[in-house]
Amino acid sequence: MGKQAIASIDDLRRRARARIPRQVFDFIDGGSGSEQTLRANVAAFAAQTLRPRVLVNVAQRDASVRMFGDVFALPILLAPVGLARMAWNPGEIAAARTATAAGTVSVVSTASSVAIGDVNASVSRPQWFQLYPWGDRGKVAVLIDRARLAGCTTMVVTVDTPVASVRVRDVRNRTHIPMPMRGPHSAAILARHPAWWLDQRLHGRVYNANFEDLFGVLPSSRTPGARHKALMNPAHTWADLRWIRDQWEGALLAKGVMSASDAERAFDAGCDGVVVSNHGGRQCDGVPATLEVLPEVVDAVGQRGPVLIDGGVRSGVDVIKAVSLGATACMIGRAWMYGLAALGASGPTVALELLRDELDRTMALLGARNLEELRAVTLTATTRSKCVRPRGVADGSQR
Ligand code: FNR
Repeated sequence: MGKQAIASIDDLRRRARARIPRQVFDFIDGGSGSEQTLRANVAAFAAQTLRPRVLVNVAQRDASVRMFGDVFALPILLAPVGLARMAWNPGEIAAARTATAAGTVSVVSTASSVAIGDVNASVSRPQWFQLYPWGDRGKVAVLIDRARLAGCTTMVVTVDTPVASVRVRDVRNRTHIPMPMRGPHSAAILARHPAWWLDQRLHGRVYNANFEDLFGVLPSSRTPGARHKALMNPAHTWADLRWIRDQWEGALLAKGVMSASDAERAFDAGCDGVVVSNHGGRQCDGVPATLEVLPEVVDAVGQRGPVLIDGGVRSGVDVIKAVSLGATACMIGRAWMYGLAALGASGPTVALELLRDELDRTMALLGARNLEELRAVTLTATTRSKCVRPRGVADGSQR
């Protein structure tokens, strides 16, 4: 019997689990601590219901959104993911091509396995750059220069990573990042996952292409958290974010904001937008779902700039729920990585198309022709859910 057709992000996840080594799958799929926050992110979307309006002429639909003077054909960006080539090649290039073809962008991680210049050279629209404020200011300035030279105009500073987290699956699996491709271990992988093994052997070593020359080759015989520990700076404060603001003339967003007060501080520090994110449940376990926090952040930010959200988005319906609660756009992390691991280079496109088609279809079924109409009419919070539509969104006002 042939393989089942792919009809959802969950299908991609299942296919990915079968196709790549367990250690790599768990590195992508897992979260920190007891994975409470990882589960909460997904559950928060399920706890919302949508109320349709019928007999609306929905023949013309438009899911586009504007941010920083640019048009995005849909309110979905591909979130930054480190070392994506570990799932399948060409890793981050596949994400950038997918995003560009769909009229949106991917956010290229500091920890990307393809250099930001090479990613941008592979597409016609510059991608966004995600900055980890690691190391001393000299090194951070070099990373910023590289993003500028590569043509990036928007930078996302991840602010939720003062120290490394512990992801239990990686510890239990004795994960080595990148996976060692030689020795007896390698032979076992070749036997079980020949296509993945071949992909990795053909494309060469997976490494931190944006910063290996700055920080040296990181040891591979440690868990991912331990690998980055040496680079992190637990002494970082808002003053450092202000310093980054002074170095960067383009649009700047803070990713990892989880409260109204931190969102306000981010704008006070000169940010042009925020990303409500708990790193997909990979940093501080025990924090709330991002969807739960979104309304208070939207309320606090008002018209100051876009509020993006990531964590737990697995369907077009999820995107609609986030937009209905006031998000300007969503980012997807695991969804495109499951696609890459499941299907190779074409996988991120399959993932994004699943979301786009469902987003468009559900807009029609709800009686909403554009994102403003979604914000104005369609969300009904269940009594169980703590997500209440923020004031600024209830009247359909725009940001
Ligand atoms: C991430 N994420 C992440 N974030 C970031 O700012 N820099 C990074 O290098 C990475 N690396 C990374 C690797 C992997 C394997 C995953 C799954 C995630 C977090 C990512 O940008 C995003 O916040 C979450 O993935 C969103 O949650 P979902 O969509 O995965 O549920």
